[in-house]
Amino acid sequence: MTNTSKKSGSGTPPPATSGIWGGRFASGPAAIMQEINASIDFDRRLYAHDIAASKAHAAMLAKTGIISQDDGDAIAKGLDAVVKEIECGDFEFKQELEDIHMNVESRLGELIGDAAGRLHTARSRNDQVATDFKLWVRDALGQLDEDLKTLQSILIDRAGEHAATMMPGFTHLQSAQPVTLGHHLLAYVEMLGRDRGRASDCRKRLNESPLGAAALAGTSFPIDRHMTAGALGFDAPMANSLDAVSDRDFVLEYLSNAAILGIHLSRLAEEIVLWCSVQFAYAHMPDAYSTGSSIMPQKRNPDAAELVRAKAGVIIGALNTVLVMMKGLPLAYGKDMQEDKVPVFAVADTLALSLAAMSGMVEGMTFDVERMKADAGSGHATATDLADWLVKTLDMPFRDAHHVTGALVKLADEKTMGLHQLSLDDMQSVAPGITKEVYDVLKVEDALNSRNSFGGTAPTSVEGAVAEARKRFLDG
Ligand code: ARG
Repeated sequence: MTNTSKKSGSGTPPPATSGIWGGRFASGPAAIMQEINASIDFDRRLYAHDIAASKAHAAMLAKTGIISQDDGDAIAKGLDAVVKEIECGDFEFKQELEDIHMNVESRLGELIGDAAGRLHTARSRNDQVATDFKLWVRDALGQLDEDLKTLQSILIDRAGEHAATMMPGFTHLQSAQPVTLGHHLLAYVEMLGRDRGRASDCRKRLNESPLGAAALAGTSFPIDRHMTAGALGFDAPMANSLDAVSDRDFVLEYLSNAAILGIHLSRLAEEIVLWCSVQFAYAHMPDAYSTGSSIMPQKRNPDAAELVRAKAGVIIGALNTVLVMMKGLPLAYGKDMQEDKVPVFAVADTLALSLAAMSGMVEGMTFDVERMKADAGSGHATATDLADWLVKTLDMPFRDAHHVTGALVKLADEKTMGLHQLSLDDMQSVAPGITKEVYDVLKVEDALNSRNSFGGTAPTSVEGAVAEARKRFLDG
């Protein structure tokens, strides 16, 4: 028998009506109704934030005289006991209690009796869930920043180690100009730096408290929303109660930022896959991050990199899920919004795992420096240097120099040799003014050393950039 046919069986006796909202109902929900309605299987992850917000709310209710100080104290003590039970694994989460809010409140009632019934004065699950979720995402942003910093620090170390390691730089995945590996790795440090910046912007913008907006319209109780906002580390209460319960911009921002980060990780993962191929053979993945094939004994597969690349798709999908979920919702709260937690939790877990795997790979990867160097000059990678030399030495307009260099590349191709292997006679047959000094700029080392402009690839620039990156991203 399938699950579905079992659940839809009309013989199942309806559960008792909800003790929390069931006053006007004669019977409880159908089993399927209960299952679709319940979020406890996923929103239990909000327990710590839910309880922190309830404690702040209860303290405010007592301070403003809405409930007695004794009830306020009993609620606070009871909530502490509930956290302990959850953390020790002694708490029984019940689907019939729908979500984390009602599971906690119901257990509080069992522990402290009637006072528990006063906790929900002047609030609703609508402002409660928005508050809990904001607090959760705020913590997730903090963790994300740490994980990003760890990966940056590993990339910066590796960049320092390879400040002078030559490799081809590509555009269109064709050899373009030589670069240093350190410079290439630092490009990702910059991307991750912007990801951290976006996380910090998101944190700033989300840091206003929905608590006290109640169901949608505010409340007639003399609450102090500034007090609860302050107690929970928010900068201020949200200004509009309708917005407070219906806003999920913070979720969309978190997921948008995650999608951009996912793309950065995926691009690095893709490069690792290429570099580790037998054809490129620039890098070697340690055993700890490689897998074998069940049929081809020679294989070493970079599965972790491929999975990081794939997980960017999971993250982009999560962003789409919430965008589509929110786009048609009239104000204020809609139950659709309960589903927003699933993609956010999945993305937070995915990012933590992807960043840890990426950190491990980058730390453990070894580079075939000789192979990269040999490849750095391939594909006439110093042709731009030749054109620049013609401009600087012979005072040619750049467009003419580009044309002359193109003719020299064609000649070299016909002779199946590199530009640096053309004889001076060959060179002069195309541009009579060329002198033997031209050979200096055709060497990869010279090409690299000459690109010492700010942000350029010269080893000296990269050494400076490594030191700067440490200051900007790791110190403090
Ligand atoms: N579990 C719900 C959620 O996550 C809580 C809010 C329910 N509010 C309501 N009016 N039914 O969205």
